[in-house]
Amino acid sequence: MVAAMERGGMAEHRRALLAGLTGTVLEIGAGNGLDFGLCPATVTRVVAVEPEPRLRGLARTTATQTPVLIEVIGGPAECLSAADGAVDAVVASQVLCSVRDEGVALREIHRILAPGATYRKSRRQLSKPSPPSITPNNLTRHQCTPCGHQT
Ligand SMILES: C[S@@+](CC[C@H](N)C(=O)[O-])C[C@H]1O[C@@H](n2cnc3c(N)ncnc32)[C@H](O)[C@@H]1O
Repeated sequence: MVAAMERGGMAEHRRALLAGLTGTVLEIGAGNGLDFGLCPATVTRVVAVEPEPRLRGLARTTATQTPVLIEVIGGPAECLSAADGAVDAVVASQVLCSVRDEGVALREIHRILAPGATYRKSRRQLSKPSPPSITPNNLTRHQCTPCGHQT
């Protein structure tokens, strides 16, 4: 079914999401790594975050078959290990509708983006309302349970 969806236009949609990205890209909820092979040549490194162990294993296998340097790591979008301002782009493809706390995830994304960096997201067509835009005033503070850091 996944292969049929990719043939049915999803791959094109993924390419459009990734088009024009450069430098270090952090992908949230990478799944089995379907986006990896579609990154433009201007992307030099991908840090792929995938919390689900089975999918993470599949993503690691996909990464070995992809020319770009890819590191696949665990952890949720609500607690990203990247340093402040460390990445040139964040990509979330059909992910934010499944994260537990979207506001906290958005705060983390905002934290790790370098000045002028890009945030690209796509979401499944669900009836869930759109998330708030990222502004310092509309994000709540959050204590990350696994590592204790404040987001
Ligand atoms: C619908 S799949 C999309 C996978 C991939 N991005 C794609 O486009 O094929 C949603 C993904 O989000 C991941 N996910 C769920 N909750 C998450 C969270 N809190 N932080 C990061 N990823 C999460 C799931 O494990 C899954 O890989």
